[in-house]
Amino acid sequence: MSALLPVYERDLVIVSGKGTRVTDQTGKTYLDFAAGIGVNGLGYADREVVAAIRKQAGRLIHASNLYFTEPVVALAERLAALAFPSKVFFSNSGTEAVEAAIKFARRIGRPAGRTDLVAFERSFHGRTLGALSLTWSPKYREPFEPLVPGVKFLPWDDLSAAAAAIDSRTAAVFIEPVQGEGGVRPAPKEFLQGLRDICRDAGALLVSEEIQCGLGRTGKYFAYEHAGIKPDMVTLAKPLGGGLPLGAVLLREDLAPLIAAGDHGSTFGGNPVAAAASLVVLDRLTAPGFLAKVEKKAGRLRRGLNRLARQHAAITQVRSLGLMVGVELSGQASDVVRGLRERGVLATRAGDHVLRLLPPLVVKPKDIREFLDVLEAVLATGAGRVPEPVETRTGAGGAIA
Ligand SMILES: Cc1ncc(COP(=O)(O)O)c(C=O)c1O
Repeated sequence: MSALLPVYERDLVIVSGKGTRVTDQTGKTYLDFAAGIGVNGLGYADREVVAAIRKQAGRLIHASNLYFTEPVVALAERLAALAFPSKVFFSNSGTEAVEAAIKFARRIGRPAGRTDLVAFERSFHGRTLGALSLTWSPKYREPFEPLVPGVKFLPWDDLSAAAAAIDSRTAAVFIEPVQGEGGVRPAPKEFLQGLRDICRDAGALLVSEEIQCGLGRTGKYFAYEHAGIKPDMVTLAKPLGGGLPLGAVLLREDLAPLIAAGDHGSTFGGNPVAAAASLVVLDRLTAPGFLAKVEKKAGRLRRGLNRLARQHAAITQVRSLGLMVGVELSGQASDVVRGLRERGVLATRAGDHVLRLLPPLVVKPKDIREFLDVLEAVLATGAGRVPEPVETRTGAGGAIA
């Protein structure tokens, strides 16, 4: 109960966090395998992130985008160096990064009559009207129609459909290399490679939408790297600001001159405090061995989940890339999320049947062991399984259910 508009279903009050654990108002501690829905890559209260925020807040919290600030300029350079030669636009959130990418695609494509956009079935790109137009789920979209016209949703992993639909009117194709909200679905390499070719041939821009799967989550800096391709734009957010609101669009450098002053803007986008935190995130991500450790821990989690899948019929499939994991269940994921929480573990779901795991990238092997033990205990209660059909017997007294 609170004065907050109930657009989220929630009841837990989190008061603090340290490492991979958070504590609620009653003092109960939870192991967090949701990590702020993929935001807290370095866990909670990371010493260096906190110190960078304190230091920058003492120097300069805000200066407006009429001026440069040192952390923001440095961060743009770091991101471009990590990805590909590009210019960076900073936003405050993921959905705003997608909005910006839509506008850049339109601005670049419009003189040639390219105004259409392509996204994929089960995509999630955010909830403002432009980003929502690219979000597949009718449940999210329909109450707010009419949305941006000219959007096509294509079947996942179908290059023939993509080749037929991406044409001279397409400004951009948005793809999550690993769909997040849509059920944790890694795009096959060949699909991404084929899309890259189709977009190039058709003159459409390819946007790698990495708000959830980018920045180390899949074991690489950017998820598109798994396919050995380079997109024309990348969208980032969630873990970028070390917990502070920060999103970004990276636009191929040679396209940047097509965007002019006044084409887009944001009062708060590219805040120096968030940028200072983000520089720490990038330092850690690029530290020798960091991503190798992510891969190693991902392997450990994956093996544990595969073992549980062999033992528990509730699990129908385990999908993962790095520490972005979806456990497909025959029954309700919400029952498993509830069972985990009762036993001191936080996780989230992606749709009705997928338990989604996004542990902090700094998760420890002992956290993974603990998580697997707790999940096993929850599955042992029958949670996540389709209930047996209720036997119906018909007798003199009629049906007994
Ligand atoms: C792939 C993807 N795009 C966009 C968004 C929207 O980001 P935000 O909630 O920061 O606006 C999300 C959020 O879950 C996401 O996962």
